[in-house]
Amino acid sequence: MTLVSHPVRALRGAVRAPGDKSCSHRALIFGALAEGRSRFAGLLEGDDVRRTAAAMQALGAELEQSGPGDWAVRGVGAAGFRTPAGPIDFGNSGTGARLIMGALAGFDLEADLQGDESLSSRPMARVLDPLRRMGAVSEPADADRLPFRLRGRSTLSAIDYAPAQASAQVKSAILIAGLRAEGATSATEAKPTRDHTERMLRGFGVEVSVRRTDAGDTITVEGGQKLSAIETALPGDPSSAAFLTAAAIISPAGEVLIERLMSNDRRDGFYQAAAAMGAHIGAEEAGEAAGERLIDLTAAAGALRGVALPERLVPSMIDEFPILAVLAAFAEGETVVSGAEELRVKESDRVTATVDMLRACGVEAEERPDGFVVQGCGGPPPGGGLVETRHDHRIAMSALVLGTAAEAPVAIDDASMIATSYPDFADHMRALGADIRHGAP
Ligand code: S3P
Repeated sequence: MTLVSHPVRALRGAVRAPGDKSCSHRALIFGALAEGRSRFAGLLEGDDVRRTAAAMQALGAELEQSGPGDWAVRGVGAAGFRTPAGPIDFGNSGTGARLIMGALAGFDLEADLQGDESLSSRPMARVLDPLRRMGAVSEPADADRLPFRLRGRSTLSAIDYAPAQASAQVKSAILIAGLRAEGATSATEAKPTRDHTERMLRGFGVEVSVRRTDAGDTITVEGGQKLSAIETALPGDPSSAAFLTAAAIISPAGEVLIERLMSNDRRDGFYQAAAAMGAHIGAEEAGEAAGERLIDLTAAAGALRGVALPERLVPSMIDEFPILAVLAAFAEGETVVSGAEELRVKESDRVTATVDMLRACGVEAEERPDGFVVQGCGGPPPGGGLVETRHDHRIAMSALVLGTAAEAPVAIDDASMIATSYPDFADHMRALGADIRHGAP
């Protein structure tokens, strides 16, 4: 399905941010492991999270939806996960795949795991290596890419592990498996990554300790801990809200309010970068949800200037580089991104996909092995291109945002992947005044 985004004068209005994808996966997985019935409000109903819901059912949990975003999960508790009747298909979801591998590794079961073409090209050894060291077995034994079979074991060995990548998915898989191991399992991360697993596990009654050392943060869980069911709302997703924020900032008379957004310093790199580039961003406290602070965020048009992005911000905006590149295209001067080689193994090779997106819209940009450089247009870029989305939801949404304020419309070849993380994206954008239409470019 192609979509075309036509330039508009102003994006204005208020939107409730969609539920956070990372927290929604974790809520379902922890709810499924817990004893008792958990209830969640504001759960993201994107395809990725639906895959995780289906996986939890296949492993023995009972799920029930009572309204939009309202879900109840009866966990397996002491009975534990069971061998699923058929293969578990994670679709496009790296988070679902990696976290669930950690979750099922600690049970006596076997599961055939698979994903779509994009997910099947992404590295899984980063999770399988520590899980194999703990006692899980993959078939083939040295599997790295989906599909493969994973055989869990109820007698996992605890490990101390320092993942080679700054990855919350790897850290989380190790800690979740560690809950079923004998003894204390630790993951040490040199650079802090999103900490929703740690926060949410505590909400489910699990003790999680964090020790700061010279090598970084060491996060430890003691094996054998039980999870108890909870009732909670989920916070709004800062990664999805970044698209609305950017649309307001590049709009000639933009002003957008995004309600109930998660504010977590492991996730706010994009907002820090946007402010450093000259965007007007404000925040008001809006309570809390699932152990996360909430804010109502305002974003308004501002004259943007390019930046050399500090590498320390990379993990806290790892999903926001395509949309940061859109801001860079409107800015005066050069924007340089480095230290972001992980972008090469996301839903697409996001370095190449981002640079090609900008070039298709008449913006000068160049790849680097670990990032990219954008020559800003100091105002609206030409637009007028057809952007190849490469099965990547964030490239699709970034290109449509660019089109709202470019000189000519921007088309994307395939909008279907947007449903993986933000099914209401086009509706929310239209409610703010965007002119996004179906049809040929
Ligand atoms: C996620 C971690 C990040 C991020 C992904 C969600 C998570 O991946 O890109 O969208 O929920 O833990 P990595 O751990 O591979 O950096």
